[in-house]
Amino acid sequence: CGIVGYIGTKKAAPILLEGLKKLEYRGYDSAGIAVLEDEVIQVQKSVGRLAELEGKLNGSAPCGCIGIGHTRWATHGKPSNENSHPHQDCCGDFAVVHNGIIENYLALKEKLEAQGHKFCSETDTEVLAHLVEIYYEGDLEEAVRKVAKELEGSFACAFITKKEPGKIVALRKDSPLVVGLGEGEYFLASDIPAILNHTRLTYVLDDGEMVLMTQDKVTVKKVCSGEIIEKEIFEVKWDPVAAEKNGYDHFMLKEIYEQPKAIRDTIAGRINGGVNLDKVLIDRQLLVDARNVTIVACGTAYHAGLVGKYIIESVARIPVEVDIASEFRYRNPLVDEKTLMVVVSQSGETADTLAALREARSKGAKVFAITNVLGSSIAREADSVLYTLAGPEIAVASTKAYTTQLAAMNFLALALAEARGTLGQTEIQTIAEAMQALPAQIEEILKQADKVKEVTEAIKEWENLFYIGRSVDYAVAMEGSLKLKEISYIHAEAYAAGELKHGTLALITEGIPVIALATQEQVLDKTISNIQEVRARGAHIIAVAQEGNKEIANYADVVLTVPRTHPVLTPLLAVVPLQLLAYYTAVVRGCDVDKPRNLAKSVTVE
Ligand code: G6P
Repeated sequence: CGIVGYIGTKKAAPILLEGLKKLEYRGYDSAGIAVLEDEVIQVQKSVGRLAELEGKLNGSAPCGCIGIGHTRWATHGKPSNENSHPHQDCCGDFAVVHNGIIENYLALKEKLEAQGHKFCSETDTEVLAHLVEIYYEGDLEEAVRKVAKELEGSFACAFITKKEPGKIVALRKDSPLVVGLGEGEYFLASDIPAILNHTRLTYVLDDGEMVLMTQDKVTVKKVCSGEIIEKEIFEVKWDPVAAEKNGYDHFMLKEIYEQPKAIRDTIAGRINGGVNLDKVLIDRQLLVDARNVTIVACGTAYHAGLVGKYIIESVARIPVEVDIASEFRYRNPLVDEKTLMVVVSQSGETADTLAALREARSKGAKVFAITNVLGSSIAREADSVLYTLAGPEIAVASTKAYTTQLAAMNFLALALAEARGTLGQTEIQTIAEAMQALPAQIEEILKQADKVKEVTEAIKEWENLFYIGRSVDYAVAMEGSLKLKEISYIHAEAYAAGELKHGTLALITEGIPVIALATQEQVLDKTISNIQEVRARGAHIIAVAQEGNKEIANYADVVLTVPRTHPVLTPLLAVVPLQLLAYYTAVVRGCDVDKPRNLAKSVTVE
């Protein structure tokens, strides 16, 4: 979910809506605003995209200059008008918006209901509105502090009340929140893009901090003690224009085409003959001493971790384990000070990944973060950070963030290999040089877009299909299948090519599309055998192979080629036709490519 707030001299509603538009990537099941007007709280909300709310408000938006807003990704309670934020107490004296989960909300709700409070929604958030009503004794800040003491879970929330119409009080625990400092006006948001059109000067709140905003001042305090904190102003340097579509039909397509630049930026200055270790910012001794590497992430970033395992094990000869963040945390993981813990997260805010980072640090592991967002929670809490310089990624389906994460994995692998002496300088240099050729090679692949479009004809009507691959191609197959599933809603399964015959071959029927990755020379013969097994049962084969592989054409209905590179770098190229395939299939099926149903770009709940 995303939250916003405004206090100043302008009409709040348009500013809140504009901010919410920038936060829709955090969820778009419903949206709402609460604006203080003539000492009354005017609440307007609507299920569906922000556009629905805008339509509803057309011409009738409240005029007040103080307000809060919310765009929702449903967790507790279905997307509906009732469950949309802002939520209010029984008398309509208070309004609250919230991102996160109040884990003990059921117990709190029961207590409140026993005291006669009537609930209008199924959300966890509504307890906040009723609690603040109970605790209010003339000071919103004090009441919110008392509410905070009752809560378990993660939350960023903002309150207004008609009893003190010149105030917004907000707090942060495990969910991001920033304050924008304008002239005679202040802004509140879950993320920086929501305020960038107004100011570049921000306070980034830390956990356990609350902010009191009035017309003429912003005060940050500790939630527990009320002690005032002198925050440092964080000046945002990046350019909001990077987050516009620039003539592309969708952000996803734009971001696919931005990959050459994203990779170029990510490797610039970090490769110089070999890898420039100073720029990879890890304690060199840990690279030498580490007993194992554990990579933890979610979604596409997890798939980058799977590729990382192949690369690191192959060049640095150190055991690598890859785990899904939401699993890692709850299995008492075996990590300690000899573990190099790697967390990967585009947003740097994914709640599961952040929790895994904290778990690992509490066990003594040093955490190396790969993230795309400067100043994000993960960046701030890790021991060292390697930023992927992909620029803002807006489409829910990750593309350029993923390929830059793969580049970062290569840096890490080379840094480990160099420190541990598992690769000689010449080999390191060969890989480093091959990395520098990647942007131009991706440009070559993008020229096949029309051919990929034709391939969608063979798959667009199917509701099930398969991706297969061996070795690191298997990891790429998983990412390819995720891309297709999340945006085209075709069910796609990724299989280790050699494993199909142990069960799933039963699902191969006449004409079913099988996307076969065949970029790995050392297992090419075996992969071709697996392709033949499915082809013999009627599958329609779409192969992804390296240029110059003439043999593959004998076994595939279509071949999409990628330029030749070093084997550890092939995933960076092989995934590109799969991204295009997912994109064009989703378009031809009429799907909402950038905002697929039920998903969100950044998931800040566990
Ligand atoms: C969400 C997004 C995915 C993303 C995952 C991890 O589920 O929809 O595209 O891969 O979160 O996000 P992160 O920001 O941690 O990389």
